[in-house]
Amino acid sequence: MIIPQLDLAGEYQQLRAEIDAAVQQVFLKGAFIDDEENAALEYELAEYIGAAEVICVNSGTDALLLSLKALEISAGDDVIVPAFTFFATAEAVSLAGARPCFADCAPGQYNIDADSVRQALTPRTKAVIAVHLFGQPVDLLPLQEFCASHNLWLIEDAAQAIGACYHDRGIGSFGITGAFSFYPTKNLGAFGDGGAIACSDPDLATRLRRLRNHGRQGRYQHSEIGFNSRLDELQAAILRVKLPYLDGWNAQRRQLAALYRQALQNTECDWPAVLEGTVSVHHQFVVTHPQRNALQLFLAEHNISTAVFYPIPCHCQPAFSESHPGISLPLAECLADQVLALPIYPALPPEAIRHIGELIQDFEQR
Ligand SMILES: Cc1ncc(COP(=O)(O)O)c(C=O)c1O
Repeated sequence: MIIPQLDLAGEYQQLRAEIDAAVQQVFLKGAFIDDEENAALEYELAEYIGAAEVICVNSGTDALLLSLKALEISAGDDVIVPAFTFFATAEAVSLAGARPCFADCAPGQYNIDADSVRQALTPRTKAVIAVHLFGQPVDLLPLQEFCASHNLWLIEDAAQAIGACYHDRGIGSFGITGAFSFYPTKNLGAFGDGGAIACSDPDLATRLRRLRNHGRQGRYQHSEIGFNSRLDELQAAILRVKLPYLDGWNAQRRQLAALYRQALQNTECDWPAVLEGTVSVHHQFVVTHPQRNALQLFLAEHNISTAVFYPIPCHCQPAFSESHPGISLPLAECLADQVLALPIYPALPPEAIRHIGELIQDFEQR
């Protein structure tokens, strides 16, 4: 049995007729930037997430960067971010000119720890970025209270978590902004780069719209230095075809995750429990295993593709190690050594999961 890590071509086949028609429509109209597909997608996403507005941009990284810029976070400011996340979370802080300050993971979880956030606070801290890693919502309440009591912005990095909920409300609608990515492998993936910002503050939303389009106010009037960060109409049209399927796909992912939990219960694999009051969208199903590298090799020998998200925590990345020397965040570092992402995508057959469970048992009994 050959099991890939994910199957984007298969996903396209499932929706081929609808996607081809939507793309053709854009070709025939001949409007490729800032037209009706974008406007409609923004409206539909705002409804879906439960935010007053959504501003589409050209990546999740830009969704974070523009959020920081719009909040006027810049040189001399600190922003607390988890050490265990994709590099772009911290990179966006540096691109804004500010300094990322790294916090550890909560014990037994992959997400940021509120106590570690407290320890990372400095007199220069302006914001905290909560990353809903692998589709599992962060326990937001303690972070919201902490940010409110220290006058900090809470920004959500929901790049991996579209459709997830915290206490019955959509992820991305809790922070001053919520940043989403439509990178092709995401639960809602474009056919190229894409991203969006959820925002319920009308003035900030106006500023974000301006920043994504060269700081433009009128056609050739530019009131500030901005970016070229627009989502193109082809991507918007494709995302609009996919959005109505997202809840069904996320439900399938939850069923697959439940099957994994069953199939792996007599193995040395471990994984965080889904927090009470949260609905995860299992962007990845990531386990820890004491012999991660050997297990990955063994699975590869048996045609099972897996991945390591993430082998180097941000504070140990060469890009940050010079500016952030001597930091120790033991839980993030331990995870980086032990995590393994097993295949998960809506069309993954349940037999594949049973097969992977049996293979992991074979590996441990060798
Ligand atoms: C947690 C996280 N934040 C930010 C990003 C950046 O998104 P993009 O690749 O769309 O720029 C990603 C993308 O993988 C991500 O996983």
